[in-house]
Amino acid sequence: MRDVIVAANWKMHTTPADAGELARIIDTRTREPGVTRVICPPFVCLASVRDALADAGSDAAVGAQTVHHELAGAYTGEISAPMLEGLATWVIIGHSERRRDAGETDELIGRKLARAVMAGLRPILCVGEQLEERESGDAVDVVARQLRGALAAVDAAAATDARLVIAYEPVWAIGTGRNATGADAAAMADAIRTALGDLGWRDAAADVPILYGGSVTSANIGEFLAEPSIDGALVGGASLKPDELAGIVARAGLTARARGLGA
Ligand code: PGA
Repeated sequence: MRDVIVAANWKMHTTPADAGELARIIDTRTREPGVTRVICPPFVCLASVRDALADAGSDAAVGAQTVHHELAGAYTGEISAPMLEGLATWVIIGHSERRRDAGETDELIGRKLARAVMAGLRPILCVGEQLEERESGDAVDVVARQLRGALAAVDAAAATDARLVIAYEPVWAIGTGRNATGADAAAMADAIRTALGDLGWRDAAADVPILYGGSVTSANIGEFLAEPSIDGALVGGASLKPDELAGIVARAGLTARARGLGA
């Protein structure tokens, strides 16, 4: 049975001075048997979040928001996988904000994904279409192309071992308050599994957890988790609000129990 996952993407919010306290509050408010929780703070807050969770005896994991594709070198401002050792066990790859602001292409995202897999980081690969692409009926083709590009350089067995997670995040739904419908997200999750099968990733197609992301709140999470093909959420804005995140994880706990997880 696939994991039920709630991943918090803090983006460029919090500081080393306050991130640990927020992580501690979130941890105590979101303990739900069977739900895998991941907090992805900015790089400079990884240590404070790690320490706060360790002090609290928490099983919540810590993730980075990106990672460089090379191990080391003349890459000013970048962070490599070896630098994350001891700080993070998960990593978000190919978030649309990095595609937009850092010019990340499918090919580069594929190299980052390969690096994460090699480093033993559990990757959350983000895919999702723009509004025009959804309106012109091209959403499934766009997402399939993103998957092909990102997975080209990655071995299916290695990615399965790394327990790859895919997040479907329609770009028009991120930070806009305009979420996709549960039915649309489920249809895309099915299309993602079909695309994985077409790539020859047959086992992964059934086993890979698929998260929905894009304006997830405690009020709409139920719509997504009512869909059996959706395995959790990648949460941005609401993940900085303990009350909201508590509601989201509580709903995920129902799904986890229905799947027999955490017993
Ligand atoms: P949002 O962000 O929940 O604020 O829409 C989601 C994400 O970008 O991962």
